[in-house]
Amino acid sequence: MAFPPSFIDELISRNPIEDVVGQYVNLKRSGGNMFGLCPFHGEKTASFSVAPDKGIYYCFGCHKGGGVINFMMEIEGLTYPDAVRSLAKRAGMQIPEDEQYQSRYRHQERLWALSKEAARFFNKQLYAPAGEQGLAYALRRGMPKSVLTTFGIGFAPNTWSALTDAMRQKGYTDQELIDAGLVSEKGGRIYDRFRNRLMFPIIDVRGYVIGFGGRVMDDSTPKYLNSPETLIFNKRKNLFALNLAKKTKLGYLILVEGYMDAVALHQYGFDCAVASLGTSLTEEHAALLSRYTDQVVLIYDGDEAGQRATRRAIPILEKAGLQVKVLRMKDAKDPDEFLKKFGADKFKILLEDASNRVEYQLNAIARKYDIREDEQRVRYIQECAQLISTLPSSVQREVYGNRIAETGGISFDAMKMEIAKAYKNRLRREKKVQEKKDLAPVQAVQPRSRTIHYEDVKSAMAEEGVIAQGLQDPSLLDLCGDLQPEDFSSELLGRVYKQIRNCQDMGVRVNLAVLEGFDLDEMSHIAGIVQRQSGPVNERAMKDYIATIRAESQKRTVHTEDDLLALRNKLKESKGYKG
Ligand code: GTP
Ligand code: MN
Repeated sequence: MAFPPSFIDELISRNPIEDVVGQYVNLKRSGGNMFGLCPFHGEKTASFSVAPDKGIYYCFGCHKGGGVINFMMEIEGLTYPDAVRSLAKRAGMQIPEDEQYQSRYRHQERLWALSKEAARFFNKQLYAPAGEQGLAYALRRGMPKSVLTTFGIGFAPNTWSALTDAMRQKGYTDQELIDAGLVSEKGGRIYDRFRNRLMFPIIDVRGYVIGFGGRVMDDSTPKYLNSPETLIFNKRKNLFALNLAKKTKLGYLILVEGYMDAVALHQYGFDCAVASLGTSLTEEHAALLSRYTDQVVLIYDGDEAGQRATRRAIPILEKAGLQVKVLRMKDAKDPDEFLKKFGADKFKILLEDASNRVEYQLNAIARKYDIREDEQRVRYIQECAQLISTLPSSVQREVYGNRIAETGGISFDAMKMEIAKAYKNRLRREKKVQEKKDLAPVQAVQPRSRTIHYEDVKSAMAEEGVIAQGLQDPSLLDLCGDLQPEDFSSELLGRVYKQIRNCQDMGVRVNLAVLEGFDLDEMSHIAGIVQRQSGPVNERAMKDYIATIRAESQKRTVHTEDDLLALRNKLKESKGYKG
C-alpha cells in the first residue's frame, strides 16, 4: 500500500527530523549536523548524527540511518504505515483513507484499551470477596498494599467467565478477547484464560498494558501462566517493570528473572529492576535496555540454569554496548528471598562488590582448569594473561595481573611478561588483519549489509555520488538527461535513482523519506551514502559521476558482446568450422 507522495512530503515537512529524534535523543548542534548518543546501540561518544537540512539520521557507529519515518519504525518497532500514522497524529494530520491499515490500527487500540480494562478488573477483584485468597497470598509474600498499587497487581477469580462477562458488558467482542489473549477457546466457546491466579500486568514503556503474568497460589503447575503472543504482546521485545524502572535515578538497571524479584527490588528501594518475561534474553531486550542505561546488573538465580543463562546473557548485553556486572546470590535462591531474609542494606553491599565483567571472566577461566596440576596451571595463567592484556587501563592490568600471579603461584614479574607477550601477539594479529583489509580496497567499500553487494564497485561509487548529490540538490538531477536506472550497476541504487527522478519530474520535493519499497537495511545504506558523502555538491562532480556510470555501463554491454563473439567462435571451432 502506498501513501500518496504529496502526503508523505507534507508529513515530513510537518515533522522536522531534529524535533522527532529530539524526543528520544539529546542532540547537540555541531556545524550543519546535530549529534547525540545513538539510541540503537549503546555508546559513550556521540556518533549518531542528524542532518536537518537533508532530513536524515545516520549513526557512524552502527550504521543505522534513514529518514524520519524510518526513525519511528526503528525506535518504536513500527511498520511503515504505523510509523506514518504516528507521525501524522503528531502533526495533527488526517490520514488518507485506507481501510486495511486503519482497521489494523483501530484493532490494536481496542486491544490496548481492553487489556487496560482487564487490568482494572483484576485489580478490583483483589479487594473484592472473590479475591480474598489472592490478597492474603500477596500479603503473605510480603507485598504491602502500596506495592500492589504501584504494579497494578490484581487477582483473577476462580471462575470460567468472570472476566469475559465483565468485558462483554463493557462492549468488547469475543474476538477481541481472543485476540488480546485473555480467553481460551474450546468447542466454539470461550472461557477465561486466567483463573485463580495473582495477576501481574505487563506494561510497555509507553504505558500500554500489553499482557499479563498470572501466578498460582500453591504448588500447582504451571506456576506462572503468561499471555500468549498477540498483536500487542511480544515477549522478546518487552521487559516487565521497565515502564517504572526507566524513571530511576540510580543510573543503572537491574535485570532479574522473576516477576517477584522485580517487585521485591522496587519495594526495597531498587526502583531500577526489570524482569525478562520467562524467556531467555534477546538482542531486542538488550537494545531496549540500552535506550535507558549504559550499565546493567545481572542477577539470575544461583543454580546451574541461572548461571548458564548469565553466561549467555553477558555477550548479548555487551554487544548492545552495555556494561555488565554480575551479582551472584548468596544464601538465598533469588533477590526476592534475599531481600526478605537480609534486607536492603545487605543487598546494597552485594551490589557494591558485584563482580564486574573481568572478575566474572577470570572466575569462569578458573573453573575450566585444575590449577593443582602444572600443565593446566600454565594454560590457566596464559588464558588469564590473554584476557588481562585486553584491558585498557594499566592499573587494571596490574591489579588483575597480581591477583592471577598469586593464585597461579608465580612471580609478579613473570606474570607481567606473560601479559606483555599476549599483548604483542594480539597486536601482531590485528595488524595482519588490517593489512589484509588495506590490500583489499574493493572489499572495504562494499556495503556493510550482507544482503547488499556491489558487482561493479567503480560504477557503484559514481552511482552513490549521483544519489547523494541528487538528494541534496535535486536541480542537479536535470543533468542526468537520458541516464537510465538500467545503466546503474547496482539494482538497489538504480531503484533509488528511478524514484528520485520520478519525484523531480512530478514536481514533488525530492527527499529520502519519499523513497518506497526499501527495507530498513537498505534505507540505512542509502542514508549512509548521503551522510558520508564529503565531496563538493556541484555540477562538475555530478557530471563526472554521470560520465563514469555511462562508461562503465557501456563496458558491461561491450563485454557481453565480446563474450557472445567468443562463444560463437568457440562453437564454430568445436563444430570444425574455420573463422
Ligand atoms: P516465586 O516463585 O513466586 O518467587 O516467583 P519467581 O518470580 O521467583 O519465579 P521463578 O524464579 O520460579 O521463575 C522466574 C520467571 O520465569 C517467572 O517470573 C516467570 O516469568 C517465569 N516462569 C516461572 N515458572 C513458569 C511457568 O511455569 N510457566 C511460564 N510460562 N513461565 C514461568
Ligand atoms: Mn522467587
